[in-house]
Amino acid sequence: MHYDFIDNAGSRTFLLFHGTGGSKEDLVPLAKHIDPTANIVAFEGDVSERGMRRFFKRKSPGVFDVEDLKKRSKAALKTIETITDKHGLNQTHLIAIGYSNGANLIASTLYVSAGVFEAVFLHHPMIPYESGNMMQGATAKAFIGAGENDPICPKDHTTRVESLLEDCGAKVCLHWHAHGHSLTQGEADAAKKYYDDEVK
Ligand code: MLT
Repeated sequence: MHYDFIDNAGSRTFLLFHGTGGSKEDLVPLAKHIDPTANIVAFEGDVSERGMRRFFKRKSPGVFDVEDLKKRSKAALKTIETITDKHGLNQTHLIAIGYSNGANLIASTLYVSAGVFEAVFLHHPMIPYESGNMMQGATAKAFIGAGENDPICPKDHTTRVESLLEDCGAKVCLHWHAHGHSLTQGEADAAKKYYDDEVK
């Protein structure tokens, strides 16, 4: 995966995963809003769906290619390890932030890894797998941003992601807004508040 690295000599590092059709730049303003002192690793998905960048393949909207998702989740974890070593990042303070397709990739990594991320920020996630659980201690803290009228992420998916995270021992904050799939300013503010109160 290609990535941009913004070195702020911070103790924490945000790992950013954009949504379908997005780019490395998309979540940088959100990351800077949450904590302008953190380092940033902004990834670019290397799957192309009719020219739209993604982090894993899907068979149709909302129907994931599970084998590809598993394979790319493991590869993403290896890439994160390599980048952490290369840039001398503090591995106890890695925080993953993803939107939509990027949030789904992060959620998927929690089924195969524990403790890589200090916290995860999942903006408009879906359930990556029909069955199975996230690993115990997958992440200690999790923020979920969701829309009550999101046509892509049904409400029961959101609450199941919340339960899966709670079951693995995470302290979860679920923030609802009254809109759809968009990541609103109110949601960004709620993410920052969760970070300031619970992570920093
Ligand atoms: C996905 O494929 O990850 C979800 O359908 C969300 C999206 O449209 O990216």
